[in-house]
Amino acid sequence: MVERETWATRVGFLVAAIGSAVGLGNLWQFPFKTAANGGAAFVVFYLIAVTLIGFPALLAEFVVGRRTHRNVVGAFENLGGRGWRVIGAVALFTGFWILSYYNVVGGWVLRYLLGSATGAYFGDPGGYFNAVASGPEAIAAQAVFLAISVGIVALGIENGIEKATKVMVPSIVILMVALAAWAFTLGGAAEGIRYFLSPDVDSLLSNAGSVVPEAVGQAFFTLSLGMGIMITYASYVGEDDSLPVDGGVIVVSNTLIGVLAGLVVFPILFAEGIDPATGGPAALFDAVASAFANLPAGRILGVVFFGVVALAALSSAISLLEVAVSYATDNFNVSRPTLSAVSGVVLFLLGLPSTLDTGDPGGPSAWFVWFDALAYNLLLPLSVLLVVVFVGWVLGWNAVAELREGTSDSGTLATVWLWTLRTVVFFGIIVTLYLGFQTLFF
Ligand code: PFF
Ligand code: NA
Repeated sequence: MVERETWATRVGFLVAAIGSAVGLGNLWQFPFKTAANGGAAFVVFYLIAVTLIGFPALLAEFVVGRRTHRNVVGAFENLGGRGWRVIGAVALFTGFWILSYYNVVGGWVLRYLLGSATGAYFGDPGGYFNAVASGPEAIAAQAVFLAISVGIVALGIENGIEKATKVMVPSIVILMVALAAWAFTLGGAAEGIRYFLSPDVDSLLSNAGSVVPEAVGQAFFTLSLGMGIMITYASYVGEDDSLPVDGGVIVVSNTLIGVLAGLVVFPILFAEGIDPATGGPAALFDAVASAFANLPAGRILGVVFFGVVALAALSSAISLLEVAVSYATDNFNVSRPTLSAVSGVVLFLLGLPSTLDTGDPGGPSAWFVWFDALAYNLLLPLSVLLVVVFVGWVLGWNAVAELREGTSDSGTLATVWLWTLRTVVFFGIIVTLYLGFQTLFF
C-alpha cells in the first residue's frame, strides 16, 4: 500500500471541511426548508439542533477519523473489530444515496449558471425549470458536474481537494457577502429579513412534531455528518490539531453562510412578491430566476448567484466522492484516478432515477423527493446514531483521550462532551427517528 496522504496545512483541512459543510444544504435547502416550515421558527430549532446535537456529533466523527487514519469502513474495524464495519458501510451507503441526487441538483445549478450568462431563461423563467430539471438535459448536466468532481478528487488530497477548496471557499464567502449587501438594497429587504429572523412562537410550538426531525436532519446534512465525510477528512489530520477548535470554526462558518443565504434569498423573494411558503425545491430556482429576469443587472447577478451555488455544491460533492475513493484506495491496488472515475460512473448511474420526469410540472421527480425524504428522516439520523453509540460507549474514555490530543483541555471539556453524546445527542436522535418515521410513513 502506498503511504497515506495528509493535508499540507491545518488551514487546508479547515477550508476543505468548510467547503464540504457549506453547500446546497445552506444555499438552497436551508432557505426553502425554512420557508416550508414557518420561517424563523424553523431557524430556532435548526440552531439548537446544530449546537447541541450537530457539533458534538461532528467531534465524534473527527475522533474516529484521526484516531485511526483509515477510511470510513477501515476505521471502525480498526477500533472495534470486524463486526463494527457495518457502521462504516451504513455511512458509505448513506453518502452514495445522497450524492446520487446531489449531483443532479448540481447539474441544475450549472444549467442556471449557463442560462444566466446567455439570458436563456429571461423570457420564461417559470418554464425553465421543467426544461432543464429532467430528461437528457439533466442527465448531461449531471455528467458535467460529476466529471469536474472526479477531476479534482483524482488529483488527491493535497493537490486536488486542498488546492481547489482554497480557491473556492474564499470566493464563496466574498461573493455571498457582496450578494447580501446588494439584496439589502432591494424593496423587499425589510420584509424578507423579518420573515427569516423573527420567529412566530405559536407556530413553532404547534408544529414541533414535524419541524424537529427536519431541523435535526438539516443539522446533520449541513455539517456533512452521517456520510463518512468528516471521518475521512479527519483521517488525514495530525495529532497536534485541536479538534474542538477546528470543529467550532467549521460549525460557526457553516451557520454564518446559511444565514447569509437567507439574507440573500428572502429579500429577493419578497421584492418580487413571491410567497416563500409556497416554495419547494423547484420554486427556489424558479423564484430566484424570475427575480433576476426582472432586474436591470439580472444577467450578472444571475451568474454571480448561481456561480456561488455551483462552487459550494462542487466543494461538497468532492468531499463525498472522497469517502468512496478513500475506501477504495485503502483496499484495492488500483490508482486513485482510476478509482475516482469508476466511482463517478457508479454515481452517474445512481443519479439517473432522479432525472426521470414523472409528470409533475414545476417539481422534481417523485423519485427525487423520495430520495431526499428518506435521507433526512431515516438514513442520516440512523447513521449518526450508530457513530454516536460507537464513540459514546465502545470507545468511551479512549474517545475522550483522542479529543484531548492537541488541546490544552485537562479533560473536563472532553468529559462534558462524552456525556453530551451519551445523553442529549443520543436521546435527541432517538426522538428525531421516532418523529421522522411518523413523517415518512403515517
Ligand atoms: N454539507 C453539505 C451541504 O450542506 O450541502 C452536505 C453534503 C451533501 C455534502 C452532499 C456532500 C454531499 F455530497
Ligand atoms: Na460546499
